[in-house]
Order: sequence, then C-alpha cells, then structure tokens
Amino acid sequence: MSQKKKRILSGMRPTGRLHLGHYVGALENWVQLQESAAYENFHLIADYHVLTTDLDTSEIYASSIDMVIDWLGAGIRPELSPIFRQSQIKEHAELFLIFSMLITKERLERNPTVKEQARDLNLSETMVFGHLGYPVLQAADILIYKGEVVPVGEDQLPHVEITREIARKFNATYGPVFPEPEGKVTQFARLTGLDGQAKMSKSLDNGILLSDSPQEITAKMRKAVTDPQKIRRGDPGRPDICVVFTHHRKFNSTEETEIRAGCESGQLGCVDCKMRCASRIADFLAPMREKRGHYEAHLDEVKDILIDGEKRARREAQKTMAEVRRAMKLGEI
Ligand code: TRP
Repeated sequence: MSQKKKRILSGMRPTGRLHLGHYVGALENWVQLQESAAYENFHLIADYHVLTTDLDTSEIYASSIDMVIDWLGAGIRPELSPIFRQSQIKEHAELFLIFSMLITKERLERNPTVKEQARDLNLSETMVFGHLGYPVLQAADILIYKGEVVPVGEDQLPHVEITREIARKFNATYGPVFPEPEGKVTQFARLTGLDGQAKMSKSLDNGILLSDSPQEITAKMRKAVTDPQKIRRGDPGRPDICVVFTHHRKFNSTEETEIRAGCESGQLGCVDCKMRCASRIADFLAPMREKRGHYEAHLDEVKDILIDGEKRARREAQKTMAEVRRAMKLGEI
C-alpha cells in the first residue's frame, strides 16, 4: 500500500487572530484533511500577499504569530504539516517572475475576485502591479510545492483556475513539471457577521475570535442582531434569517431542532437563545483556548515550528526550481 499521498497546499494572509468564520470556512477543513491518510499538507502564511493592499509591514510578524497560534490551537500538527512564511522561501519570488511571463495582463484583469477587491477598496484607477499579479504569486505558492489540492472559499476559485492555466502553459511550453491543482470548497456555508453584515471580518469586529474568553463570547452574542420582527419573547421568529441560529446549527447541532421550534413558536426568547449559543461556543472553543494558551506562554516553540517548517518547505521549493531551470534550460553551461 504505497500509494503516494496527495499534496495539499493551504494558505491564508496573516491578518492576526482568527474568528469563527475562518474556522468554519477553512481551518476546520484543513484539520480534517490532515487526519486523512490520503493527504499531506503544507500550510503557507502569505505574508507577501499582504503588501498587495497594505504597505505597512509593521504588524505582519505579530499577525503571523497570532495566526499560527490559532492554527495550532485548532489542531494543525506541525510535525505532520509544515507551517512556513512565503517571504522566507525565496523560490516563491523566482517562480512568480517566470509565471508572470505565462499569462496575459488581459486575463488577469478579467479575474472577478481582483475586480471585486478593486471595487471594495476603490482601487480601480490605482491598483499596484503586484495586486494585479496576486493570483500569479498564488500560483507560484501552490505549484512550487506541486500542490494538487487547494482548500479554499468560493472567492478563491478564480485564483485556482489561473493556477491551472499557468501550469498547463508551462507544461506545454517546457515539458511536464507541474500538476493541475483542484480547488476544494468547504462544505458549510460561511458564517455571516454578528451585526448582520454578509461578511464576518476582522476589521468590522463582528465575529467571535477563537481566542475569545467565555465572557467575551457572551458579550458579543448579546449584541448580535436577530430577526427584527421578533421583538419580545412570545413573538414568532424566523431562524433561517438569524445569525444566532446559524451559529446554533454549526456549534449546537444536537439542539438545532428544539431551538428552531422554540424560536418559531415564540416560546424561546432571543436572550435565552443567545446565552445557550454562547455557552456552546465557549465549550467548543475551550480546548482550543487551552492549547493556544500553551503556545502564547511558549513563543519559542512557535518560532521553532516556523524554523523547522521553513526548512522543510525550502527543500521542496528548491527541488522544484531545479526542475524548472532544467526544463527551461536556464543556467546551462
Ligand atoms: N489568497 C488567499 C487568501 O486570501 C491566500 C493565499 C495565498 C493562498 N497563497 C495561497 C491560499 C496559496 C491557498 C494557496 O485567503
């Protein structure tokens, strides 16, 4: 039984402490895949990618460490799955340069995810060159490790598609070096913000963090927006439009039916419903909080994890670059 494991390349930009939306949309999936014997995982901290929208680098290191602690708390096992920073593996930049010759600027301008970002951030006239090239760097991140599977949210699928196109173009031009990776979209619909906004986001501070204490979870839940038609206990509610109910479905599935019935009949008031939800989430996060507490108190261990992960990643990246140069006949004498 020596079937080769499929390699998974998963990554996030280091935005600091993670919220439940990150957990549900990505991290949970990473941990499950890690436990499957069919896969081998590489976990990338996309620190260069931060620069596409923010030139201030002063927080990148601290945000990377916070994020790694959340990954470890959620169950990523670094001895199985290397964790590393993109900026510490120089080969990413080298492959990015080569890949930037294999795709047209028109193709990149059609990318819906970059277009959407440009609209949200008001960048349509002023986007930096590196932002347009965001997916080309991402392609290098994935292909330098010959990643075959990329667990992503829906919004990242266009980037994976560009990665496939670049792999095909390289292989057709210089010979077969790269796999064509597949995007694997997570199962659970993403969590909406507790304030009712479609997106749970760090900057809006509208989600529960994996590091929140039970008191913080309760305080955030208390403020969560519910069905506006349900004003007091006794009023029937509509669980399907309520963000608290979405959290019950995910973190309190054994009581889902009962909560739905209570809400719809009006017997269950929003405050009770929220407090039950907060307490289940606190229970759910307790083991993660404990594990993250360990790493927060032992930052040297976190640094060693990065040093080791970066060594392992670099070895793979150098192997691939040697193949790339050979295929392209670069550096022959
Ligand atoms: N674009 C991804 C995000 O914003 C982060 C990322 C960079 C990534 N490189 C990657 C994800 C490679 C998967 C694989 O979340």
